[in-house]
Amino acid sequence: MSSTKIQVQGQPLPRVSSRNHSMRISVVCAASIKRHHRVSSVYSRESGPSLGSVPKRTDESTFLRGDGNGRFGRFGGKFVPETLMSRLRDLEDEFNFVLSDHEFQEELTTALRDYVGRETPLCFAGRLTEHYKNLARTTGGGGGRSGGPEIFLKREDLSHGGSHKINNAIAQAMIARRLDCSRVVAATGSGQHGVATAAACAKLSLECTVFMGTIDMEKQSYNVQSMKLLGAQVKSVEGTFQDASSEAIRNWVEHLGITYYLSGTVVGPHPCPVMVREFQSVIGKETRRQASQLWGGKPDVLVACVGSGSNALGLFHEFVGEEDVRLVGIEAAGLGLDSGKHSATLAVGDIGVYHGTMSYLLQDDQGQILRPQSIGVGLEYPGVGPEISFLKETGRAEFYTATDQEAIQACMLLSKLEGIIPALETSHALAFLDELVPTLRDGAKVVVNCSGRGDKDLDTLIHRGIPSSLC
Ligand SMILES: Cc1ncc(COP(=O)(O)O)c(C=O)c1O
Repeated sequence: MSSTKIQVQGQPLPRVSSRNHSMRISVVCAASIKRHHRVSSVYSRESGPSLGSVPKRTDESTFLRGDGNGRFGRFGGKFVPETLMSRLRDLEDEFNFVLSDHEFQEELTTALRDYVGRETPLCFAGRLTEHYKNLARTTGGGGGRSGGPEIFLKREDLSHGGSHKINNAIAQAMIARRLDCSRVVAATGSGQHGVATAAACAKLSLECTVFMGTIDMEKQSYNVQSMKLLGAQVKSVEGTFQDASSEAIRNWVEHLGITYYLSGTVVGPHPCPVMVREFQSVIGKETRRQASQLWGGKPDVLVACVGSGSNALGLFHEFVGEEDVRLVGIEAAGLGLDSGKHSATLAVGDIGVYHGTMSYLLQDDQGQILRPQSIGVGLEYPGVGPEISFLKETGRAEFYTATDQEAIQACMLLSKLEGIIPALETSHALAFLDELVPTLRDGAKVVVNCSGRGDKDLDTLIHRGIPSSLC
């Protein structure tokens, strides 16, 4: 087996002889995309070449925002073959340019307002709040007090297409056009990113191909039909989202000239994770403004589900430098952490390289990727983004889990109490309120990111858990 050259932000690192380690670092390339190997056993934290050991803290806020080159401590980087480096550099240059380009920003602001429907409301969930107050009164939870925190929902489910995914898709589609790419490829799990990308491409007259796992296509058929109606070609890939991602990247590499890979979440080689986070950070910026208008302060706790981390970072990023705002991410515990059938990467994962970046991953002792599982299809990815990994390692954000069954219960509760059917992904964040609320002081302000709407999940709910009396 030949050795593989690893690059981090364009800096060639020493060649690692795979024979010495009986494993090879996987990179984003056509030939080896399916393979994944853990690097933690090659480069340990204490010894070996530095892959970004946790830097000295100077300014907390700057420290937590990474080095500006896609490195968050030892996480992130560009683990890609040479052929992709120049492409990623072009993308990075364009991304950095548009951040302060008046024309781009004006076009994006208009698109977010008139097409996406921003700003999305930050609405008080009065009956849900009351539900928890009643629980505390009747069960003696929270010391039997009658107060309790107030719960607010950031309504990303009201965005065009039904989820937060469009915030990023429309912005990146604009970048694709500026880079003279006439064709966009993407991968989707729940179908929400596929729908968002298909819509953005239709609007900007770009050819769109979306790769999707056969298993996911069956579960999210509503979104498959929507993508087709929006003019996208939907290509099925044996398996789930991780397989679809590999195939989309492979297709991108094969047609680099005219093709733009539109990443839907905060994973992949730099600048993809930073770019997606930047375009999603509108969620947190609006939340700050709206909180100030609604109660004249900041939120005390922000809660979001974590698939790979884009809706969570979108909400968190604005507040990362303010320690008095708690950041709480909820992963999918599936059938339970002990069952091995879950997507709880941060809870039980280990550090490795996959799809071009270093982060926490679900992997076995040999470094082979484990298949994630959750009732929330959009949470089924074996990794999380580098920035999320860093927030866990530094302890700035807290991460917990919710099972399939808890998510179903939370979905039903919000539907009944607030008249909002949340996506099953979102429902994981809502489920954690059962544990969180009794621990909070009276009047604390909790904001839950309602990342998507649950229409797409009705078939799953009917088949998997909703009581037959409701069908
Ligand atoms: C509604 C919804 N919420 C959350 C997620 C999880 O993705 P991320 O962690 O990138 O926000 C998805 C993924 O498809 C989704 O569709």
